[in-house]
Amino acid sequence: MRRPLIAGNWKMHLTVAGAEALATAVADAVASLDAVELLLAPPATALAAVSALAAPRGLSLAAQTMHWADQGAYTGEIAPPMVREWAGYVILGHSERRQYFGETDAELGRKVHAAFAHGLTPILCVGEGLAEREAGRADAVVLGQLVALDGIAEQEAARLVLAYEPVWAIGTGRACDPAEAARMMALLRRALAERFGSAAAEEARLLYGGSVKPDNIAAYLAAPDIDGALVGGASLDAPSFAALARAGALRGALQQEASP
Ligand code: PGA
Repeated sequence: MRRPLIAGNWKMHLTVAGAEALATAVADAVASLDAVELLLAPPATALAAVSALAAPRGLSLAAQTMHWADQGAYTGEIAPPMVREWAGYVILGHSERRQYFGETDAELGRKVHAAFAHGLTPILCVGEGLAEREAGRADAVVLGQLVALDGIAEQEAARLVLAYEPVWAIGTGRACDPAEAARMMALLRRALAERFGSAAAEEARLLYGGSVKPDNIAAYLAAPDIDGALVGGASLDAPSFAALARAGALRGALQQEASP
């Protein structure tokens, strides 16, 4: 049974003091929730402070990106062992990293391997742009981005978190139609099954991301292949993140009831 995961990507927002205040408000607001995993991805400068505060309260932590090398002359980057000090997860290949910083699938492949090698769980983001969708190429683009998973082992694939985030839906308020998101997720899970076997594909968690809000999350979580959400804007407000978390907890509770 896959535990629902609601992840908040804070992107390039908040100083340490602001991040601590938001993490405290979130932890207070979600304190009684069970059956859902909640994850915060603060900027790297606030990772230590947020981890110290939120991890003891049961929240998971992620870095928003990292380099693949263990250490070295890579000015401005953070290495897997540095992330590992504070977080169990790392977001890789977010469309903003691909678009503004030129991250390629080949680089992401190295980063995915580095994450697993250091005991980090990668949250690999895939998603097509608007022109690609309008040209009828969404499926091919997203399946092609799975090249970043080449060479990972079956047991690693089982731990993977894969986020489908159509680029045109991120930060635009134009969320993907839930039925279409569900279709893309089923496509991705089939692709994982073909490459890594059905047992691993059944364990991997798939998230939808792109303008997820408290008033639309339930429609995504109703799909059997959507195990949670990767949330940007709505994660920067504690009551709104808590509402998303409650939707995840409800999905988890229903799953538990349904399982023998
Ligand atoms: P959004 O961002 O929720 O603000 O659309 C999603 C994301 O970038 O992961």
